[in-house]
Amino acid sequence: MASSTKKYTFDYEEYDSIDDLSAADAHLIEEARKATEIAYAPYSNFLVGAYAVLNSGEFIKGSNQENASYPVGVCAERALLASVGQLFPNEPILSMAISYNNLNGESNRPLSPCGMCRQALQEYEGRVHQPIRLLLSGMEGKVFVINKSTNLLPFSFSGDDLK
Ligand code: THU
Repeated sequence: MASSTKKYTFDYEEYDSIDDLSAADAHLIEEARKATEIAYAPYSNFLVGAYAVLNSGEFIKGSNQENASYPVGVCAERALLASVGQLFPNEPILSMAISYNNLNGESNRPLSPCGMCRQALQEYEGRVHQPIRLLLSGMEGKVFVINKSTNLLPFSFSGDDLK
């Protein structure tokens, strides 16, 4: 019987703060932080903002929108993707900044996108054949830069599995 151990790794960049980023990337993060102000999150008090630049140079934002029936709520990333799908269909996304303001605690560690959003980001990357660069942060502190969202979703299920 033959077997082998495989390894999954990916590279990402870590910055101490947005001051160490290009002006363009710092701008995206500042706007994502601002977008937390339009979140509707009265149940979790965890306000998430997303802000993206498209290939066309257009900018678009999103925020989480919760519901008294909890599973109905939508995350900031998927709210943003839904808006791109309506307003700029099939326009690739160059970079998306995602930040959060946690009213229950601290907001100084980079955000970790939820599994459902990773799946949705992957679908959009595949649909337009271009990776989405992610800029992850809180309201202050470290920033992680990940070159394609699919790096965050190994062994993923995709349309290829349905063929
Ligand atoms: N949330 C997002 O909007 N994006 C994420 O990547 C993580 C979680 C939202 C969902 C919910 O409204 C609140 O944060 C707490 O889970």
